Amino acid sequence: MAATESTSYVDKLAQLTLEEKIALLSGCDFSTANGVERLGIPKVRVSDSICGIRPSGISGDMTTACFPNTVCYGATWDAELMGRLGEQLAHQARLKNSQVVLGPTINMHRDPRAGRNFECFSEDPLLSGQLAGAIVNGVRRGGVASCPKHFVCNDAETLRHFYDVNEGVDSRTLREIYLAAWQHLLRTSEPDGIMMAYNKVDGKYCSAHDDLISRILRREWGFRGITMSDWFGTKDVVGPVKAGLDLEMPFPVFRGKRLVTAVEAGEVTKGEIDALARRMLELRDRTRECQSSGGPERSEISDEANQLARDIAAGGMVLLKNDNCALPLNVAGVKPKIVLVGEFAKDAVFTGGGSASCTPQYKRSPLDILQEEYRDQPDALRYASGVRTRRYIPEAPTHLLQARNGQPGVDIAFYNNDDSSGKPHLEEHQERPSVWMLGEFKPGLKVPGSRVQISTRLTPDTTGEHTMAVRCTGSFSLTVDEEEVLSGPEVEISTEQFIFNHILLERLTTVSMTAGQSYKVVLTMQGPSKLVAGEPTPYAACLGFERAYSEDAAIEEAAALARDGDVSVVYAGRNEQYESEGFDLPDIRMPENQTRLIRAVAAASAKTILVLHCGNPINVGAVVDEVDAILLAHFPGQEGARAALDILTGKTSPMTIEYAEGIKMGYRAPVEPQRIRWPFGHGLSYTSFQYTDLQVVKDDGSGAGSLRLKCSIRIQNTGMRAGMEVVQMYVTPPESSSNNNCVWRPERELKAFTKVTLGAGESRSVEIEADMKVACSYWEEETTSWRLQAGTYGVLVGGLTAKFEVEKGCSWNHL
Ligand code: BGC
Repeated sequence: MAATESTSYVDKLAQLTLEEKIALLSGCDFSTANGVERLGIPKVRVSDSICGIRPSGISGDMTTACFPNTVCYGATWDAELMGRLGEQLAHQARLKNSQVVLGPTINMHRDPRAGRNFECFSEDPLLSGQLAGAIVNGVRRGGVASCPKHFVCNDAETLRHFYDVNEGVDSRTLREIYLAAWQHLLRTSEPDGIMMAYNKVDGKYCSAHDDLISRILRREWGFRGITMSDWFGTKDVVGPVKAGLDLEMPFPVFRGKRLVTAVEAGEVTKGEIDALARRMLELRDRTRECQSSGGPERSEISDEANQLARDIAAGGMVLLKNDNCALPLNVAGVKPKIVLVGEFAKDAVFTGGGSASCTPQYKRSPLDILQEEYRDQPDALRYASGVRTRRYIPEAPTHLLQARNGQPGVDIAFYNNDDSSGKPHLEEHQERPSVWMLGEFKPGLKVPGSRVQISTRLTPDTTGEHTMAVRCTGSFSLTVDEEEVLSGPEVEISTEQFIFNHILLERLTTVSMTAGQSYKVVLTMQGPSKLVAGEPTPYAACLGFERAYSEDAAIEEAAALARDGDVSVVYAGRNEQYESEGFDLPDIRMPENQTRLIRAVAAASAKTILVLHCGNPINVGAVVDEVDAILLAHFPGQEGARAALDILTGKTSPMTIEYAEGIKMGYRAPVEPQRIRWPFGHGLSYTSFQYTDLQVVKDDGSGAGSLRLKCSIRIQNTGMRAGMEVVQMYVTPPESSSNNNCVWRPERELKAFTKVTLGAGESRSVEIEADMKVACSYWEEETTSWRLQAGTYGVLVGGLTAKFEVEKGCSWNHL
């Protein structure tokens, strides 16, 4: 990727004016960092996410190869697979003309309600950092840059722009868990950028945190790439520049003219601007090879990407429970009578929400796939949608709507309030009953000072008390056959909440309607009464509609089908409406109506399999003993439905991980083992493994003075099928640390892992190793350094332990 000296962009630094240098330090739209045309310095396109590279713009719905979510990556425990993913993401980024992939997200699973946990790997810093590093390396091999995020402690979404992580997070916790993930990432890879978190740490915004950016990231860890703000994540002009934040995204809110003025006033030096501009030019040198030639963005369906999406989905799905060998289902020969239950079985779940979501290239549901497989025996496959699994009312479906010209859809009219002619300023016909503008408005439309009207004829296909919903940013009135059925005031909503959590705008009513009868529906909304300062102003109106339904009848229908089948497969959990960005889950309960459905189906079925979609844990306490097997399917991407069915039918075997323990955060917490149903690292397979001959040695083979801790272990597949096993190496602290006079250490901590595939009966010796200093040291607060205690340590692998001695204690400033 390196540019030759003579063509280097960095060489152009001296030719840039102050204004041009400053132009390089911010974005110019939602997905682009600014360039300088006069000198041929290109813009840099950045794109979310490692689960699917999104097109440019904020609401672009061009499709893309949709991979599983990151928690599924974490559950693969497979760095090699993550490397392949990185290479494929680089290819996908080029299709979208992008030079920088925004990700991986390596915040920690600290709270099981955190909205973006699905977008992060795990609760363990080593697993998260190493898998993220493998992706970064793969992206780089593909010639593209990546920008892991969000540094640091963006481990929750509620008030993410404001919260301050200082109470309770002492420097040891930061060092050993939250910063540690980044250190593992930087030990294994060299990302070209790092995105700073929105929140504060110790009273300072991360985007202006000189300690985090300059001291730890750059000086201590030697990071040489750029740092960028999260979107609208800067809070002032001078602080971020002084701290060394190179790029403000997505617009020059605190840069541009304001920064020029600050330089002229002597608040920021030209040298400080040069340092930032230089790194922005270096980024162009490093990404020169993937610069866009300016053609259109593309979406290409490829077997290679799909196979990878399927391998990752299959590798990351976790079999949590499998009583009496309920799985795999035997579908060879005469197929079992399957009853498929749940809206997610027909309307498949692909991704979580927010910036890590994307539009898949195709949507194949479990029902579609099984219908193909049951072509010869269609009567042996039954489907019941069961209860509703959604957070907000869907948009009124186009096929029920008719515009004035007789076409399906709606008429939209925009009016400027000061136009006394009473005529619309602009009229449009469209299929969807919604208007969505953010900062960029229709030409000539006055904001503030305008209104919009959506009108249509709605013909329901069933009779009943149907639900009508409105999601409007301004004050509105909804009429049905000229009669007002709902109205509401302008809603105060931040731009961020508008983008990610528009359920906050929802207003509902029910209207009695008859099947086949056409109703005139008109939604009128006043546009915003003022513009939002510093961020784009939302202007949106949407009409939702859902036909009446009886939950009891839906549950009874599913249970009745279940009674006649051999096995019921219930798809349940959450989708992108529940787990997303900008908000957290209120709790981890399973929605009550889903619990009722699962229990009713399980009571009626000979055998019940539960397929759970969720990024965060979901409380299955009320159903776990009722069902025979549970497969955790995450948000599995466009090949996810196929991957899950391959596991259910035994075509692929889920991975096995038999060991993992508690910890203060997540598995490090010293809690009673029986309180944890499925601990970190749990997962069943269709075979079993036996571990023997664990040995550990300290080795200074490199002679560089850095000792390696080397473990070897023999593993045998003792079952009848081939299977994959994740070998996990934990280090236990010296015995003296359980003594009260010594510092507390978690009972065990993950220090290395690898994944092996063994045929039935096969036995193999596996080597696994870690740097001894890194594996055994803890962060000592008093001396703010890493401390290695002398003593007898242990390693734990697959239930076996072995001891090793550290003869002499020492300290290090940097690991
Ligand atoms: C998210 C980032 C994302 C950015 C651009 C922000 O809301 O926090 O993770 O990269 O938007 O989409």
